[in-house]
Amino acid sequence: MPGKMPCLMLMVLPLAAAADAVPPPARQAELVSLVRQECGFCHGLRLTGGLGTPLTAAAMRERPAETMVAVILHGIPGTAMPGWQPFLGEEEAAWIVDRLKEGFPDDRR
Ligand code: HEC
Repeated sequence: MPGKMPCLMLMVLPLAAAADAVPPPARQAELVSLVRQECGFCHGLRLTGGLGTPLTAAAMRERPAETMVAVILHGIPGTAMPGWQPFLGEEEAAWIVDRLKEGFPDDRR
């Protein structure tokens, strides 16, 4: 039945995207710039710490990913760490946390 496949694809694709959403490459480049510039403002140019704590792989490896995602989205009340929910989706924050844990990539733009 050659007519059936396209319909199936349309139903399956959105589900797959929601389950394991990775930002598209262009957005990944934006996220790298954002972290290097905005987060680096407090966490240091090399993310080795400043006003904010180090976000190096060594520091981030031990931290639970869900907690770090929540911190990035909602901030830490009573500290200078702001919430980034207006600017970042949950899957984008999760992507940033994954990158931080393995050593954040350089801004190539
Ligand atoms: C205005 C300053 C500021 C900016 C901008 C900022 N942070 Fe923070 N951040 C802090 C401070 C201060 C802390 C430590 C708060 C505390 O005392 O626990 C912190 C803590 C954190 C933590 C928890 C670290 C840990 O070891 O538990 C993470 C993760 C984090 N920031 C990620 C980010 C990311 C990602 C961005 C950019 C999207 C960002 N921060 C931007 C000030 C900032």
